[in-house]
Amino acid sequence: MRELIFATNNKHKLEEVSQLLLGKVKIVSLAEAGLEGEIPETADTLQGNALQKAQWVWERTGKDCFADDTGLEVSALNGAPGVYSARYAGEHCSFDDNVNKLLAAMDGKTDRRAAFRTVICLIEAGSPRYFEGKVEGSILTERYGEGGFGYDPIFMPDRFAVSFAEMPLDVKNQISHRGLAVKQLVQYLAPQE
Ligand code: IMP
Repeated sequence: MRELIFATNNKHKLEEVSQLLLGKVKIVSLAEAGLEGEIPETADTLQGNALQKAQWVWERTGKDCFADDTGLEVSALNGAPGVYSARYAGEHCSFDDNVNKLLAAMDGKTDRRAAFRTVICLIEAGSPRYFEGKVEGSILTERYGEGGFGYDPIFMPDRFAVSFAEMPLDVKNQISHRGLAVKQLVQYLAPQE
């Protein structure tokens, strides 16, 4: 089976994407590839960060790899936190800090529309190629559910009555930004399926 290194230190993402690519592509983690350390992500677009993260692996291994970058774009905040979603509450903040800051920023706002957008950069033989997925929804006024990670407890996708954190992983994967981006990646890697 074809192997691809996934340039992430986020074990939730590794689990989500491994489940999506099960039986199609063998996902190799950074640890399995013998890589350690912080991967830089200093670009100001999702595409730029995905490229930067994938390139970091490519330069060290010369092996085919991919990275994803995700942003939560909130309408009432003019698209913030967007590309800065991971560090919204500060440089070394936790998921909880980010959620608290977003709930405070949305206090009293009636327009709760938001979207998660993921860009994947695949590097094959040194050449980058991009795939994108987006899910629209709204920001809840408090946390619901224990699953998932990041902003999952306060994001409710359209046409659902529960937050991402209340969904089983396979349901989230079917409709999520990352799930949709990975589907594009699979279409490219295994077009017959
Ligand atoms: P990253 O730069 O792709 O790691 O994502 C930026 C930030 O977006 C993460 O630190 C999380 O807070 C958030 N995020 C990414 N994907 C998800 C998701 O599937 N659910 C909730 N939050 C997410």
